[in-house]
Amino acid sequence: MLIPRSEFAGHKDHILNKNISLIKVMKAFVFHQFHEGPKVIFEERFEKEVPDGYACVKILAASLNHRGDNYIMGSDVEEVKDKKYDYLVGKQVIIYPLLGFGDILGGPNDGTFCEKIIVPAENLIAKPYHLTPEQAAAIPVAGSTSYQALIVRGGLRAGETVLITGSGGGCGLFLIQFAKAFGANVFFTTGQKYKQNFIEDKFNVKGVLYTEENWSDKLKQIVPKEKGGFFDLIVDSSGGKFVPTYLDILKRSGRYVFFGQTLGPPSNEILKNWSTIYVKCLSIMGSDLCNFTDFKSMINFIIDHKIVPSIDSVVPFDQIMDQFIKMERREQIGKLVVSFAK
Ligand SMILES: NC(=O)c1ccc[n+]([C@@H]2O[C@H](COP(=O)([O-])OP(=O)(O)OC[C@H]3O[C@@H](n4cnc5c(N)ncnc54)[C@H](OP(=O)(O)O)[C@@H]3O)[C@@H](O)[C@H]2O)c1
Repeated sequence: MLIPRSEFAGHKDHILNKNISLIKVMKAFVFHQFHEGPKVIFEERFEKEVPDGYACVKILAASLNHRGDNYIMGSDVEEVKDKKYDYLVGKQVIIYPLLGFGDILGGPNDGTFCEKIIVPAENLIAKPYHLTPEQAAAIPVAGSTSYQALIVRGGLRAGETVLITGSGGGCGLFLIQFAKAFGANVFFTTGQKYKQNFIEDKFNVKGVLYTEENWSDKLKQIVPKEKGGFFDLIVDSSGGKFVPTYLDILKRSGRYVFFGQTLGPPSNEILKNWSTIYVKCLSIMGSDLCNFTDFKSMINFIIDHKIVPSIDSVVPFDQIMDQFIKMERREQIGKLVVSFAK
C-alpha cells in the first residue's frame, strides 16, 4: 500500500528534533515490512558521508525488477573516494548490482529508488554512449541475468535454435535481442496476442501463445525442419507445469537453462518423464546474475551490437507506483523505468 507523501510532512522535523547534525536530505522510495503486510512509502533520508573506496552517484533513471519482493536499479557520479576511479567523476555510469558479499543492490541493501546512492567505486562502469540514461537503467539486473542464462550458462553458439519462453517481460526481450545478435535462430512464447505481434514485428522472430492448448505443436510447425525441428537451447523463467514440455521439445543433448519460476516449481509430471533427461542426454542448468567480468563482457556486447534495451515506459519518480501496478498486472512489454530528470 502506498502512503501519500503528505502524511510524512512532519518526518523531516522529527529527524531535526533529534539533534543530529543533518547536512542534507533526499527523497527515497522505500519498502517496509510491517505486521499487517508490506508498505511502500516515499520518505526523506539523510545524505551520508562517502567512505573511502566508495562513490556517490546521482540517480538519473532506475528500472523495476522482481528478484524477491522488490528489486531495483541507472546514474551520474558526483564524488569518488578512490583515486583509481577519479576519472569517473562527472561521467554517466551503470552500477553493477552485486555487492562484495553477494548481496544485491535493492535488497537487502538500499536500492536506486532514491536521488543519490553510495556504492563501491569498483561497481561502476561507464554508460555506453549510444544509450540514454533510461535505456541504460534497464540493463543491470535484467541484462546481466539474460546474458548469464543465454551465453555464460547456456553456451549459445551462432546458428543454434533457441526458444525464449514468456518473452514479454524485462528479461525476455533482452534474451531475444542478445540471441539474435549472437546469430541464433530465435523463437519465443508469450501470453498475449498484442505482445506476440509486437515482438514479431520489432525483432523479426516467430512466436506462439503459451495460452493456447497446443502451443508446443504450433511451435514445432514453425521451427524449420532442416534445423531438426527442435531446440538446442531453451531459456526459461516460467517453470511450473510447462517444464516437461520444454524438455520434450529439446533436441538430443539440448540445454534447458532457467533463472526464475514465475509459475512456481515444475509439476510432478516431470518425475514421470525423468528418463527423458538421461535418454536424451539433456543438461538442466540454473542461472542467476553474472559476475563482474561477465557483466563487462555484456556491456561490450551491447556496445559492439548497438543493442538498445526495449523499454515499455518511463514515468517520473513520483509516479513509480503506476509502474509497480503495471508489473503486477503483467501488462508491460520490456522494462519499466522511472526517471529522476526534473
Ligand atoms: N535469477 C535471477 O537472477 C533473476 C533475475 C531477474 C528475474 N528473475 C525472475 O525471472 C522471472 C522474469 O523476470 P522479469 O523481470 O522478466 O519479469 P516481468 O518483466 O514481470 O515478466 C514476467 C514474465 O513472466 C512471463 N510469464 C507469465 N506467465 C507465463 C507462463 N505461463 N509461461 C511462460 N511465461 C510466463 C511473462 O511472459 P509474457 O509477458 O510474454 O506473457 C513475462 O515475461 C521472474 O520470475 C523473476 O523473479 C530472476
